[in-house]
Amino acid sequence: LSKAPLSAVLLAASRRPALRRAVTGTPATRRVVDRFVAGETLDDALGAVRTLTADGIAVTLDHLGEDVTDRAQARRTRDAYLAALEALATLGLGTAAEVSVKLSAFGQGLPDGHDLALELVRPVVEAATAAGTTVTVDMEDSRTVDSTLAAVAELRKEHPGTGAVLQSMLHRTEDDAKTLAVSGSRVRLVKGAYDEPDTVAHRSRKDVAAAYARCLEILMSGPGYPMVGSHDPAMVQRAHELAAQHSRAADSWEVQMLYGIRTDEQRRLAAAGTRVRAYIPYGSDWYAYFMRRLAERPANVAFFLRSLATR
Ligand code: FDA
Repeated sequence: LSKAPLSAVLLAASRRPALRRAVTGTPATRRVVDRFVAGETLDDALGAVRTLTADGIAVTLDHLGEDVTDRAQARRTRDAYLAALEALATLGLGTAAEVSVKLSAFGQGLPDGHDLALELVRPVVEAATAAGTTVTVDMEDSRTVDSTLAAVAELRKEHPGTGAVLQSMLHRTEDDAKTLAVSGSRVRLVKGAYDEPDTVAHRSRKDVAAAYARCLEILMSGPGYPMVGSHDPAMVQRAHELAAQHSRAADSWEVQMLYGIRTDEQRRLAAAGTRVRAYIPYGSDWYAYFMRRLAERPANVAFFLRSLATR
């Protein structure tokens, strides 16, 4: 382990319950977490929704939690999303405020988990449609991709606005992008936040970025609705170039960034006429999400360690 890159160590740690207790039990962690998470309650999240949408930035709400270990937890995930959609409906923001879900929080990893997750996420998608908005289904580790894409395909039959996420780090993704670059399909392209073996994924940053650019070209040249999920200035610029090259209307694609990351750039892009959506995580189960954000950027680890040292 000592020779593994820091990001791999952090990603391994994100799935270790004992470390979860140590990190989340440290009071100083809270201040750092606040940079990436809107708060523990739905009200906290709605505060962030109001602020961002007032600035012309659309949002997608993520109720934190993943890899549930029993059905009761999976049902609680469904209920949390139903409450969020009820609140969003009263704000009347339409598709400017949607939700993102992780199927592992709906029981995907349990026995018969594919069917269970689909059964529990369906009412959430129905509530989103009733509220005039959409659901995007996050992508998790590579072993879940077939099940997750199949679930999105199933949900899209009645709710065509349901969004999928593709990770450019996976070798399979260019093919998936071709399949999904069809009329009406919403696809968020990201680099991928999970530690994957080289049998299924590009391992170097350069290769992941090159694959991102290739997938972006497939999506931006097609008739679907691409969602460019990246903070990387080179990827965002490439998306604008491709939009111009393919004469895309400004409302036919969007840039998405995470809450708390490059917020000035989110505002600048929105003011300049690009559609921007911020992904807002909230809830008490923030550990794994937080560790993935640390893994993405060594400077965040230094920031975290400094705050522990100066508490
Ligand atoms: P990259 O990591 O190369 O960063 C480029 C620059 O962005 C950095 O130099 C820095 O300036 C800034 N930056 C990036 N990450 C930062 C951080 N954590 N803190 C501070 N600054 C940072 N993944 C996944 O596997 N499944 C999913 O469903 C999603 N969903 C998703 C939604 C949205 C809206 C976004 C933006 C991202 C995701 N991701 C995701 C995460 C994604 O896979 C990826 O891990 C991160 O976006 C980091 O990659 P970037 O493309 O941002 O570039």
